[in-house]
Amino acid sequence: MSDTGKLRLGVNIDHVATVRNARGGAYPDPVRAAKLAEEAGADGITAHLREDRRHISDADIDGLMAALKLPLNFEMAATDEMQKIALRHKPHAVCIVPEKREERTTEGGLEVAREENRLAHFIAPLREAGCRVSIFIAADRRQIEAAHRIGAEVIELHTGAYCDAHAEGHFKERDRELECLRDMSAFAHSLGLEVHAGHGLTYDTVKPIAAFPEVMELNIGHFLIGESIFRGLGPAIGEMRRLMDEARSDALRTAG
Ligand code: PXP
Repeated sequence: MSDTGKLRLGVNIDHVATVRNARGGAYPDPVRAAKLAEEAGADGITAHLREDRRHISDADIDGLMAALKLPLNFEMAATDEMQKIALRHKPHAVCIVPEKREERTTEGGLEVAREENRLAHFIAPLREAGCRVSIFIAADRRQIEAAHRIGAEVIELHTGAYCDAHAEGHFKERDRELECLRDMSAFAHSLGLEVHAGHGLTYDTVKPIAAFPEVMELNIGHFLIGESIFRGLGPAIGEMRRLMDEARSDALRTAG
């Protein structure tokens, strides 16, 4: 995704595959959704190839690499199998995420600090292959410092706890999470890391995050795919884009 200074929107299409896989057939096709997202103003496409292949399949990744003009952000666990797949495709970006079979979705950030050595060796060949390596972590100083030390260029901050607190009406906790995300975005940026954010974002929660000046990219999936049932995928993405742009320009006006 090019460095234009504009806040980028990466559309995660995993859950198009979830719907397809509910019947085991060929539709809805995630590659078709990705092309629609491209037309609707997405700046990138994100897809997570999970170890258990519960949504995106190997064939989907082949299809996305062949069909997309937009950069692909390939989410994967730090396993040998996934590293081989990434090195075969050489996507624009690789986002390393923690993965547990028993979880419904990626519930926490990666424990980089505890696995620094292994992860440094793991990401080195990906970087040499020209992939931008991003690490999905909680807004935690220790994890950010460790991500920096292992040579990641990008961190993606997990916004799940902030979004859950909002959804559950725990507004004090939500505001604490937001404060922490704000501080840690600035801290990561000060180390020279590019800052992305995502997980659980909706129309109700996106604007405060989009207003952080250090955040360059948001990756949003589940809500957009759900909302597309009611509005269609293009309009659902268009509305998210509008809210992101509005938040960013309001923040710039206030700052300036
Ligand atoms: N970013 C990362 C690293 C993720 O793992 C996910 C979920 O796959 C997302 C963003 C998007 O989260 P959601 O689907 O909740 O919008």
